[in-house]
Amino acid sequence: MERTIHEQQDKQSTYNKQKDYKPGYFGPYGGMHVPGVLKEKLEHLAEVFEQLKSDENFLRDVQYYFRHYIGRPSPLYYAGRLSREVNSTIYLKREDLNHTGAHKINNTVGQILVARYMGAREIIAETGAGQHGVATATAAALMGMKCKIFMGQKDAERQEMNVYRMKVLGAEVVTTARGTATLKDAINEALEYYVNHPDAFYLLGSAVGPHPYPSIVRYFQQVIGDEARRQILEAQGHLPDALFACVGGGSNAIGLFSAFLEDSGVSIYAAEGGGEGQVLKRTASTLVMGSPLVFQGTYSYCLVDPDQQPLDTYSTAAGLDYPGVGPEHAYLKDTGRARYFCVTDQEAIEAFRRLSSLEGIIPAIESAHAIFLAMKTMKNQPQASSIINLSGRGDKDMGRKLV
Ligand SMILES: Cc1ncc(COP(=O)(O)O)c(C=O)c1O
Repeated sequence: MERTIHEQQDKQSTYNKQKDYKPGYFGPYGGMHVPGVLKEKLEHLAEVFEQLKSDENFLRDVQYYFRHYIGRPSPLYYAGRLSREVNSTIYLKREDLNHTGAHKINNTVGQILVARYMGAREIIAETGAGQHGVATATAAALMGMKCKIFMGQKDAERQEMNVYRMKVLGAEVVTTARGTATLKDAINEALEYYVNHPDAFYLLGSAVGPHPYPSIVRYFQQVIGDEARRQILEAQGHLPDALFACVGGGSNAIGLFSAFLEDSGVSIYAAEGGGEGQVLKRTASTLVMGSPLVFQGTYSYCLVDPDQQPLDTYSTAAGLDYPGVGPEHAYLKDTGRARYFCVTDQEAIEAFRRLSSLEGIIPAIESAHAIFLAMKTMKNQPQASSIINLSGRGDKDMGRKLV
């Protein structure tokens, strides 16, 4: 029988069970490293969110929109031709089939319901690939709320179609040329606006930033893993041997991984945006090459220069082009529960082509990083099965001539 999101979300996080558990922390990582004015707002948000998690009406609303608006559950598809090519058994969790084309909508629909409950009048958000911007503009239109999206100039240029979509949906897109004109600069801009506009609700797009965002985003994305677990048990009668996802800030990955963290037989692999690779060091592989630092409100890994300043990152995938990463991933890396790898632009483009021609599914370039890692890791393992989180579809990358 199909479980409801209500039942799924009663599940305690792995961390609540630890004896030294502190809300908002994953081992030493996480926390709320922000100035006083922001702290008050975030503490209020954390409090309201805790209450909403046991509010029947709120949970019913989330469930309703997940099912009837987003189109959940998303399918778990057995990728037969890809499996034969790799000589293993590979399933794709089809988040690309969600309304707006990526996993981002799970979180925006969830958070917009929180915003509505809190009486917010204006929604603000940052975006890299534009998928979170589109998903936020969509949810804001759905609820009839004003919406402002902050975006780095460079990202706005390489994700032109998504900028257009946000505008069609009625959002105002504010671009910034600061810094590298990518996601981290958009977040700085959005945070600044948030401090100065007390009525705005900041709808953060990944499992990053200060508490309570990593926990809120995880909560709304864990539906991916909960569904995938049930679906693979139905499909093959046992758990998979491995999971794969790409990591920008880490929301689609934690969404899938969360349901399997306590299953020690399930190996967990994540692909970071390797850009031009570890040797050239023009990369966005935060967990592979970074070190722990307080950055944008949280303590996690960050790519830094010798003076411990956040480094300019590079990845062809706008959604992975970010020097930070969610604090839960920092913890999963240190404990060895999940393993993180650097997948270069070239490798991702190769996987982008392979999946498109083998399965008739054009992936987002971000998701193609996970596909490459899975194809490499599972090669010639005929007895093993795995799930790749296909976090988004490739329509947004069509202007980029990747083939
Ligand atoms: C399709 C897609 N996949 C993955 C990501 C990376 O984000 P996250 O690590 O939060 O899942 C993005 C970000 O924009 C995206 O658009």
